[in-house]
Amino acid sequence: MRHILVINPKGGSGKSTVATNLAAHYSHKVDRVALVDFDSQESSLEWLERRPERYPEIVGLAGHKDGMRGVNRSTDVVIIDAPARTHKTELTDLINRAETIIIPVQPSPIDMDATAKFIDELSGYKKVSSKQLKIGLVANRFKENTLIWDRLDNFLEKQKPPYIAAFREAQNYIRAYTRGLGVNELPEYLAWPDQQQWDPLITWLDSKRSQPK
Ligand SMILES: Nc1ncnc2c1ncn2[C@@H]1O[C@H](COP(=O)(O)OP(=O)(O)O)[C@@H](O)[C@H]1O
Ligand SMILES: [Mg+2]
Repeated sequence: MRHILVINPKGGSGKSTVATNLAAHYSHKVDRVALVDFDSQESSLEWLERRPERYPEIVGLAGHKDGMRGVNRSTDVVIIDAPARTHKTELTDLINRAETIIIPVQPSPIDMDATAKFIDELSGYKKVSSKQLKIGLVANRFKENTLIWDRLDNFLEKQKPPYIAAFREAQNYIRAYTRGLGVNELPEYLAWPDQQQWDPLITWLDSKRSQPK
């Protein structure tokens, strides 16, 4: 069983967007996918409620109430959607459950500052320093040709954890979210630029680089 934690201490950075899109991706690749929502706002679970029945099943669990109880042993991939502002004990708890962390970051000075602190905090965990837990950074909601996007791009290049992928700001994410789908499940003619932007993240997740040594 593989556990992928999507986390960033800032609200609105794209945790639920990345978590739901990953769940949609894996639902076509493996037998059993669970999406565990640790945020009491339950955005991921609301997304799942809207998922049409004809699409591959994803099991939704309210982690903020029940923890990981309810994750069936035969689950292949568990996607964990973290809340904003995780306290120390809760963070430790989430970290203990994962082998891979994805940190989505928005182009905003406040988000970059918060992320730098968070990366620093994570580096203090033995699980991270001993490479039992792999971190990948992802830019989210970028707008081409903006100064702040250049800054985010530079910022992410300079961090110790690898900078894996960048997702543009696009209506397709809203469209997919409101329909209970991932952008990979939208028609290709509509969503191909966004679908392509997921390839580097999927390649990284499929490689050993994102898994414990
Ligand atoms: N790449 C994107 N393009 C357009 N809208 C996005 C994108 N990523 C996230 N959003 C929107 O931004 C808002 C915050 O994203 P969300 O995934 O809920 O963040 P978090 O879970 O970190 O609070 C949501 O309304 C979401 O639909
Ligand atoms: Mg969320």
